[in-house]
Amino acid sequence: MKTVITGGSGKAGRGVVAELRQHGHEVLVVDKVKPADPSIPFLSADLTDYGQVGDALNGADAVAHLAAIPAPRMFPDAVTFRNNMLSDYNVFLAAKQVGIKNIVWASSETVLGLPFDTPPPYVPLDEEYPGRPESAYSLAKHLTETMAQQFCRWDSELKIFGLRFSNVMEPQDYAHFASFDADPNLRRWNLWCYIDVRDAAQAVRLALESNLKGAEVFIIANSDSVMSKTSTDLMAECFPGVPFQREVGQNEALMSSDKAKKLLGFEAKHSWR
Ligand SMILES: NC(=O)c1ccc[n+]([C@@H]2O[C@H](COP(=O)([O-])OP(=O)(O)OC[C@H]3O[C@@H](n4cnc5c(N)ncnc54)[C@H](O)[C@@H]3O)[C@@H](O)[C@H]2O)c1
Repeated sequence: MKTVITGGSGKAGRGVVAELRQHGHEVLVVDKVKPADPSIPFLSADLTDYGQVGDALNGADAVAHLAAIPAPRMFPDAVTFRNNMLSDYNVFLAAKQVGIKNIVWASSETVLGLPFDTPPPYVPLDEEYPGRPESAYSLAKHLTETMAQQFCRWDSELKIFGLRFSNVMEPQDYAHFASFDADPNLRRWNLWCYIDVRDAAQAVRLALESNLKGAEVFIIANSDSVMSKTSTDLMAECFPGVPFQREVGQNEALMSSDKAKKLLGFEAKHSWR
């Protein structure tokens, strides 16, 4: 499979490039920034310019679309919204026009309601309640999830899978985890979840290789929390009164990746523990 990886020079993208190459995909990184490894095929393009996107995607079988400003308030809201929303539209439209039917893109855990100034409706979180974006960044992700449904309604052969990644961690980031443990409020904003970059990459590969069609979203988080305190104690302390949908294990993640397990065969393999 010849796969374009937008944002392939970034944190998640580097992991996806490695994973896809290991599994025999031919890759082309499309990014504004050059990959550090010169052996990676690369095309410099700005995804907010439609002509550049059409050219970049032409001839590919699939696209893993990860390019974005990756968090709220790195830039003024309108800059983040314009960059991310326009890039998403351009990638979906260009894929349609060059005949690519296989799109996997990075949505975000933020659509679940982060930073939970309004408490979550229940835990563990799943994909069953409507998006609750609380920032321009998250609003663009939510609108792209909606846009994907319309593109797939127009073409029943199309697959657009949005992966709602939790906070992406590289192995060197685990050195900070001890400091999170001291104060449950430090990571309350995402219910103490994370995703190892190698597992994020595994999820992208499995989503690309899936034969399913249509617009779907999947929570992609590790199965454990970043804390040593139990998940039930953390909820009692920070979100008293939020109901549990089911019993959870001692340090079980409060974002459930069960849908990705069931439909994609995803199983996180790299715990910080
Ligand atoms: N990092 C996280 O914790 C996290 C969590 C959830 C979702 N995500 C999503 O995952 C994706 C990857 O995030 P990341 O952490 O790897 O970010 P990153 O900033 O490390 O990488 C993003 C890459 O996208 C490129 N890019 C941005 N706008 C572009 C444009 N207009 N044209 C061309 N290239 C452009 C950047 O140059 C960069 O290399 C993003 O969509 C982000 O929203 C990230």
